[in-house]
Formats: sequence, C-alpha cells, structure tokens
Amino acid sequence: MTAKLSLSLAMMLCLFSATLLGTAAQADSRKAVKKELSKPVIRGGIVFKNYCKLCHGERADGIARAAKLYGVANLAIKPADPDYYFKIIRGGGTSVGKSEFMPPWEHELSQEQIRDVVAYLQIATDSVRRGEVVFKTNCILCHGIKADGKGRAARLYDPPPANLTKSDKNDDYKRMIITMGGAAMGRSEFMPIWGEQLSEQEIEDVVAYLRTVLVHD
Ligand code: HEC
Ligand code: HEC
Repeated sequence: MTAKLSLSLAMMLCLFSATLLGTAAQADSRKAVKKELSKPVIRGGIVFKNYCKLCHGERADGIARAAKLYGVANLAIKPADPDYYFKIIRGGGTSVGKSEFMPPWEHELSQEQIRDVVAYLQIATDSVRRGEVVFKTNCILCHGIKADGKGRAARLYDPPPANLTKSDKNDDYKRMIITMGGAAMGRSEFMPIWGEQLSEQEIEDVVAYLRTVLVHD
C-alpha cells in the first residue's frame, strides 16, 4: 500500500517536473526566435569591417577585391572551431601552417577584439544578422535599439525618426531612402544619406533585418 502510494507520488512528481521542463523548453525556443545579437558580436562586426573585409569579403565568403591578389580562390569562413580561429587570427596563417597572406593581428587587435571578431564570424554568413550589426552600429541613436523610433536623439527631430516596426513601406522604398536620405524622397532631411558610408551589400542586409522587426497587430 505505502509502496503503491509512493510510486504514484513519484509518478506525479515526474509528470510535474516534465511539465516544468516543457514550459522551460517553450520559453527557450521563444527566446531563440527573439534572440538579439550580443554586444561582442556587434563590436566584432566593426572589427571585421575595418580589418578583414578587404580580403574576406563583406559576406566573409571570399568574394572581395583583394582576394584575387593572394591567389586563394576561396577564403570562405564557415562557423568553425573558435579556438582555431582565435589562433590563426592572432598569429596569422603561418602559425597554423596556412597561407602567409593571412596576416597576424596580435599587434593591431587586443585579445578582446579578436574574441569579438571570432564571435562575429559565427554569424557573418547570415544577411539578417549582418544587417542587425549594421543597424545597431548606425541607426539606433535615432530609430532606437528596438527600431521603434525611440532612440536617444529621437526627440530632437520633428517629424520624429520613423517607427520601423510599423513601417508600411516596401523594401524598394526603404533601400532608396536609406541610400539617398530623407530629403531626396521628400521626407525629413534628418534621415541621413547612407549611400556613401554603407555599401550596397550593407544596405541590402539592413533592409533584410528591417523585415524581421515588423510587428503586425
Ligand atoms: C591580406 C589579406 C587578408 C586579411 C586582411 C585578412 N585575412 Fe584572414 N585569411 C587570408 C588568407 C589568404 C587566408 C588563408 C586561406 C587558406 O589558406 O585557406 C586567411 C584565413 C583566415 C581564417 C582561417 C579560415 C579557415 O577556414 O581556415 C580566418 C578565421 C581568418 N582568415 C580571419 C581573418 C580575420 C578575422 C581578419 C581580420 C582581423 C582577416 N582574416 C584578415 C587573408 C587575409
Ligand atoms: C539622425 C537621425 C537618423 C538616423 C541616424 C537614421 N535615421 Fe532613418 N529616419 C530618420 C527620420 C527623422 C525619419 C523620418 C523621415 C520623415 O518622416 O520625414 C527616418 C526615416 C527612415 C525610414 C523610412 C521608414 C518609413 O516607414 O517611412 C527608413 C527605412 C529609415 N529611416 C532607415 C534608417 C536606417 C536603416 C538607418 C541606419 C543606417 C537610419 N534610418 C538612420 C532619422 C534617422
């Protein structure tokens, strides 16, 4: 009798904790969808743009102006072992028996910057994530970290920076206003011209990111 009782008690406990685990897993997957890039990844994006893009290409796929110079057809960087990446970036190609044209960065970059760029390389082949880096390094002062138009500088502007989570404009329109600025589109001159600072690829990426911030109600 007591054995039976404790058995069913144990089963109930099991069920109970299974439900708990289930809800935890659900919350986790919701988080995964909404997950934002961490600060190191965003900082790493800046490092990549300044030091690596020339050879490795904006999409880190080896399509770049300087790639041909080094006679290496494919520099494609796929998500790989962070320790190996750390080593080759720090010590250069020869430190791991690879091309001497991959320079050592230990004198230019701090350990933290190298860790940041390794973190960035994990997402560098994903247009939306690259676009998030572009957005968070150029647009949030006005449009806000959530793209809802509530950036720190927003109240300086009238009309205010657009709430991009509610935009009714299509990709072509966004591409144009980002490239040519607000004035060229008959809108506020305070929406800057980005066509000179950002590449076509970066604008493509940020437009892809903006698709993901739309909130439908
Ligand atoms: C002057 C051109 C050049 C620059 C600038 C450059 N790289 Fe490289 N990189 C190379 C070459 C060449 C290779 C070797 C490719 C091979 O042998 O497969 C390489 C290889 C790599 C690899 C190893 C890829 C693999 O799968 O083995 C990583 C990671 C890497 N580079 C990261 C970086 C980072 C991060 C930066 C910027 C801080 C950077 N590179 C800047 C030329 C460059
Ligand atoms: C200095 C402030 C400022 C910065 C920085 C800024 N914007 Fe804007 N942006 C504005 C303002 C103001 C408007 C609204 C223009 C209007 O309504 O006339 C706007 C409008 C827009 C629109 C039009 C949206 C719509 O639905 O009509 C897009 C898209 C946009 N910005 C994207 C960006 C992107 C992407 C960046 C970063 C690369 C950026 N903006 C950086 C101020 C800014």
